[in-house]
Amino acid sequence: MLERLKAGGYALVALIIMTIIHVELLFKLLKKLNQPLVLSFAAEVHDSMLSLEEAALIGRYYAEKAKVDVALHLDHGTKFDTIKKAIAYGFTSVMIDASSCDFEENVRRTKEVVEYAHARGVVVEAMRIGHVGSGETYATDEDDSIYTEVEAAKKFVELTGVDSLAISIGTAHGHYKSTPVINFERLHEIREALDIPLVLHGGSSSGDENLRRCATEGISKINVFTDFVVAA
Ligand code: 13P
Repeated sequence: MLERLKAGGYALVALIIMTIIHVELLFKLLKKLNQPLVLSFAAEVHDSMLSLEEAALIGRYYAEKAKVDVALHLDHGTKFDTIKKAIAYGFTSVMIDASSCDFEENVRRTKEVVEYAHARGVVVEAMRIGHVGSGETYATDEDDSIYTEVEAAKKFVELTGVDSLAISIGTAHGHYKSTPVINFERLHEIREALDIPLVLHGGSSSGDENLRRCATEGISKINVFTDFVVAA
């Protein structure tokens, strides 16, 4: 699905679901939009609302009835155990987020997941090198965001064999303390250097024009969570 988006030069918004109501509404919307859907679930953060198994059963139920392609994606999996469970329950795509580790450890953990997932027909998104920080500390002294470096990203993809890469180019998770500034030059450089689809985290409140440019200038999937929850 992401390869097709990349070739077409546009992106999908991946909405992070937290309850069955999210899923019902998304599929209603999908009927009108008639486009593929990435149903993302951040099991390790939201399992008090919905368990991984429940999310998988609900997602698979709706995906089977849908007339379009639906990917069931595990968002921000940090533990190999969660990832293994997600795959066993029928998730078609998983994210390994080892972005808090150093480069070597991130490569080791991502590679382990890639080997496990690929053997079971599941695709893998990874995060690095760089870090998408929180909007709360955006552009302040406590901001821990790190922009993705081109050479490191290239090496990371070669070493891990990952299917898509979440990059850090100026967005942040949650709402922003100040106006987001996207580094489009870095996006272009990364897009040039890598063959695989690129993912943008922290889509909420990043500005319509910024997101439009990201979607047409190299990003294939944009994750959105906070805006929907706040609106609800
Ligand atoms: P926002 O909450 O900023 O939209 O970020 C969502 C996200 O990136 C989930 O992976």
